[in-house]
Amino acid sequence: MKTILVTGGAGYIGSHTVLALLEKKYEVIVVDNFVNSSKKALARVEKLTGKKIKLYELDCCDKVKFSQVFKENKIDAVIHFAGLKAVGESVNVPLKYYENNLFSTINLLNLMQEYKVYNIAFSSSATVYGEPKSVPIYEDFELHISNPYGRTKLIIEDILRDFSKVNPEFNIAILRYFNPIGAHPSGLIGENPNGIPNNLVPYITQVAVGKLKELGVFGNDYPTKDGTCIRDYIHVCDLAEGHILALNKLFSKCGLVTYNLGTGKGYSVLEVIKAMEKAVGKPIPYSFKPRRAGDIPECYASPVKAETELGFKAKYSLEDMARDSWNWQKNNPNGYDE
Ligand code: NAD
Ligand code: UD1
Repeated sequence: MKTILVTGGAGYIGSHTVLALLEKKYEVIVVDNFVNSSKKALARVEKLTGKKIKLYELDCCDKVKFSQVFKENKIDAVIHFAGLKAVGESVNVPLKYYENNLFSTINLLNLMQEYKVYNIAFSSSATVYGEPKSVPIYEDFELHISNPYGRTKLIIEDILRDFSKVNPEFNIAILRYFNPIGAHPSGLIGENPNGIPNNLVPYITQVAVGKLKELGVFGNDYPTKDGTCIRDYIHVCDLAEGHILALNKLFSKCGLVTYNLGTGKGYSVLEVIKAMEKAVGKPIPYSFKPRRAGDIPECYASPVKAETELGFKAKYSLEDMARDSWNWQKNNPNGYDE
């Protein structure tokens, strides 16, 4: 039985991936400092699976404490989710983002080298493509960054590429996620943003549950089918499955590989609102607002490389994603808070 260390395992994508790993009979160790998550997420994953998760509550930037995890366990692979992810906040406090996201990753790589743990999957983002020259987006497209959060992702990708060249024993999967939404169909775990959500679907579900008055749609004059932006929304459980497949690839000794994890389908903001209205069973009040700085008109993945090389294919439809996002929000109007 293989043991997987999951940094940031209590977070949104992390908790769904930990669940998928336990279901696949992996042993799981989670490291998290709960800066953006709750212990309840892990308790609920334990409840859903009937299995125990070994937890270390620590900051990956604290190398001394982090080294304990490697000293005390025989780890086969690491999935590195830990990081700060709010684009707007990263513009206001860039050093916090560089410090947290870069130091944690450098510590992790040093420890993996020291303890001879040679397999890692890293959470990158479609944000590294910036505004693409065309869609769908292929993995070999040029990378452009417009904000500090995105820059931390690109710098870490560059670190991994440099590191891989001189450490051929390492297997590294750079996974570029498109827009994860949805929640586990049980409604027990889901996305739990702090304060007012920045992202579209959590904002809509909070309007639907009555916590927010109306959605502002950022821009209706984009050169798209209905004037609103197009994104590739992927169910978080599909994304979790992508990590299981990425582990298989790592264990086949693949060296450094890079994959988009998306569905290959683009939906507009208005199409997402329509799907959410259907799931909720009532209209979502919204009005058009000016464009949001940094938004691009259209972004969706070519999923072909991940399908061909990993066997990854997203199973859930937009309708499923809307249903599961709503199911989570209505059962947990305050997320993990009582
Ligand atoms: P999240 O905030 O829910 O999860 C991140 C987890 O990491 C949290 O539990 C947080 O407490 C923990 N963490 C942060 N810094 C840490 C540190 N220094 N030490 C220990 N724990 C730390 O975010 P998520 O949506 O689950 O995203 C997971 C990863 O995927 C992140 O790296 C994010 O940048 C990346 N990503 C997310 C999206 C998205 O839309 N959610 C898209 C692309 C990429
Ligand atoms: C955002 C981040 C991106 C990150 C991704 C996943 C920005 C500029 N980009 O992408 O770096 O990788 O989240 O975490 O923040 N929208 C509204 N009203 C809202 C919220 C969103 O109309 O209240 C629109 C946006 O303009 C966009 C779409 O909905 O067109 C999706 O937005 P969002 O969920 O924030 O994701 P991205 O902008 O794709």
